[in-house]
Amino acid sequence: MARTITPTNTEVFFDDIIVSKTDPTGRITYVNDVFCQVSGFTERELIGKPHSVIRHPDMPRAVFKLLWDQIGAGREIFAYVKNMTRNGDYYWVFAHVTPSYDANGKLAGYHSNRRVPDRAALTQSIIPLYAELLREEQNHRNGKEALAAGFQKLVEFVRAQKVDYDELVFAL
Ligand SMILES: Cc1cc2nc3c(=O)[nH]c(=O)nc-3n(C[C@H](O)[C@H](O)[C@H](O)COP(=O)(O)O)c2cc1C
Repeated sequence: MARTITPTNTEVFFDDIIVSKTDPTGRITYVNDVFCQVSGFTERELIGKPHSVIRHPDMPRAVFKLLWDQIGAGREIFAYVKNMTRNGDYYWVFAHVTPSYDANGKLAGYHSNRRVPDRAALTQSIIPLYAELLREEQNHRNGKEALAAGFQKLVEFVRAQKVDYDELVFAL
């Protein structure tokens, strides 16, 4: 559900924790006030929508594949994400996304806590890496091939650091 808003070069900063929860399909069921303040959307505009309402076009699809692969397998993930506000500005977050379970152990949905990202990790590693992944994805006209190629690059990047992704994301 990409939006047609033109992205601006204005970065928005925050100093609190941005929280949201979803149902098992990824539809938003809860947002905190900080989410609304930073994104510029009202709670009403967000509930029932997927998080792609704040998706930034600079984000490679490979990162979201990794996110969904991990949480779909019942694991947590930490990831740097560039998001877009209602008016096209952007904000970087360091997200911790986890599955949540009901009293019977059945998947109830997902939870994301987003903190202020590490600036050095962003400028030295994440921004150039995501730009490379995006370029790779844009080299393919076929959507499936684009995602596979971007994901392959991401896997190679992690492999070259000789640690697994979970360690790497904290080592950047
Ligand atoms: C709990 C949770 C939090 C998420 N947070 C974000 C987010 O902050 N920004 C974002 O672009 N996608 C987020 N996603 C991923 C989106 O569901 C989606 O995969 C992504 O925006 C790409 O959307 P698209 O494939 O429709 O373009 C989140 C997913 C879950 C389950």
